[in-house]
This record gives sequence, C-alpha cells and structure tokens, in this order.
Amino acid sequence: MSANAPPPLDHMLDLARRALVNAHAPYSRFPVGACVRTANGRLYAGCNVENASYPVGQCAEATAIGAMVAAGDRRIVEAVIVTEGADPCPPCGRCCQQLAEFAGGDARIHLCGPEGVRVTTTLGDLLPMAFGPHALRQPP
Ligand code: THU
Repeated sequence: MSANAPPPLDHMLDLARRALVNAHAPYSRFPVGACVRTANGRLYAGCNVENASYPVGQCAEATAIGAMVAAGDRRIVEAVIVTEGADPCPPCGRCCQQLAEFAGGDARIHLCGPEGVRVTTTLGDLLPMAFGPHALRQPP
C-alpha cells in the first residue's frame, strides 16, 4: 500500500456504502451493505438481496462472504456493516454464524452508519461460545 492510499477501513466503508446503494430490499426497506477483509488484504462487498418469498432473502454479509468464497479466499479478519437507521445495527445471528465459519473471535466488526463507524466490536463479543467444527468432532 502506498503512503497516500486510503486506510483499509475507509476503503471497506466505501465499498460497503456502494453495495448498500444496490441493495434489493423492497420489502423491508432496510438496505444493508457489508464488506469483509481477508487475511491477504482483499476486500469483498455485498448487500442484502430480498425475495417476494420472504425467507428466501439473503443478508448483506452472506452476499459478501459468497463473493469471497467464490474468489478463493477464506480467512476474514475484519468486517464492516453499514445501515441507514439511527442506531448501530449488529449482524443477525445467522450472519454471526456465517462470519464465524471464516473468522476468529478476534475479528473486528465495525457497525457503521452512512457517516462512518459507530461501534467497533469483535465477533467473539457478538457470538460467544460459537458453534464450530470442534463441536462436530466431539465423541458421544
Ligand atoms: N439484514 C442484513 O442484511 N444483515 C443483517 O445482519 C441483519 C439483517 C437484512 C435482511 C433483510 O433484508 C433486512 O436486513 C431486514 O431484516
């Protein structure tokens, strides 16, 4: 990264904001943008994609994670989630679980509004005692 390059967090916010603009959220009218950064520094953005069959809708984090996996990346170290409401919006439980598949408890999660970061937390704080592959390996 050159000396004049924007810090990764600014870049992540920018990508997440741009994704939010493209959200397909005609039912909830609650657009969400997300961006994940992988250990190799790559960034993947996504937005929520709703469906007339409501349960079929996909969260913004899932869209970003899907783009990451499709590109061959696996290790998330940081994520930003952007919403437009007044309060910081944490990722839903399903998204925390999806993030936990590819991120450690120390991964930083930034809850953002259009103006920037509102709350920074970790995946471990959002999802303590996460279910993971270790649970599948427990003997009966
Ligand atoms: N949503 C997300 O995209 N991410 C979350 O973590 C929480 C909720 C979306 C799903 C739905 O399209 C809209 O927000 C309202 O629930």
